[in-house]
Amino acid sequence: MTIKGFIFDLDGVLTDTAEYHFRGWKRLADEEGLPFTREDNEALRGVPRRESLLLILKGKTVSEEKLQEMMERKNQYYLEFIHEIKPSDLLPGALRFLEELRAAGLKAAIGSASKNAGEVIERLGIGSLLDAISDGHSVERQKPAPDLFLHAAAQLGLNPHDCVVVEDATVGIAAARAGGFRTIGLGPKERVGEADVVYPSLENVHLDQALRDLA
Ligand code: BG6
Ligand code: MG
Repeated sequence: MTIKGFIFDLDGVLTDTAEYHFRGWKRLADEEGLPFTREDNEALRGVPRRESLLLILKGKTVSEEKLQEMMERKNQYYLEFIHEIKPSDLLPGALRFLEELRAAGLKAAIGSASKNAGEVIERLGIGSLLDAISDGHSVERQKPAPDLFLHAAAQLGLNPHDCVVVEDATVGIAAARAGGFRTIGLGPKERVGEADVVYPSLENVHLDQALRDLA
């Protein structure tokens, strides 16, 4: 088995911005009188901004202008949350895992659907541990299409089958599998059970153990 690089989703994998996306949507939904629960939010993990809003609207039709206004409003709420992000907001194990990759001479990239990924990465202070960033600006077709991870692998100069994708979302695991990547799912089996290997989080996962589990 040759594994030469890891591609990480960002929101919900390296930091808990999945919670901030939820809070942003929740505030918007409450203002609009749209029923939206934490459980509903599970279906939004990894899903781009526009598609997320369409899921929240549950078939209710609104004008394009109103859609744009609501997406902008949610994004403003999200930006308020991420302005506070600092290096200590990395999830347990995330920094250590990135450092282990560096020490082992493996490559690391981000593959996030978010257009705000750059700002989050900068605030987390992990830019120097990353060799490439593919984000919501990089490709047209988002997860579950494999395009974003293929974009990241190409930036690393690696073939998909030499890379592992680390994801917390059902659509993210589907995207990685569609691209021919190996996969680590973080979270409950009901969400990421299609991954090659599933862990609750990166907290107790060391690189050598992950490589053994993937083999
Ligand atoms: C993904 C998140 O990483 O990015 C989704 O899991 C989010 O919740 C998507 O909707 C798009 O993010 P943004 O910041 O471009 O609205
Ligand atoms: Mg995610």
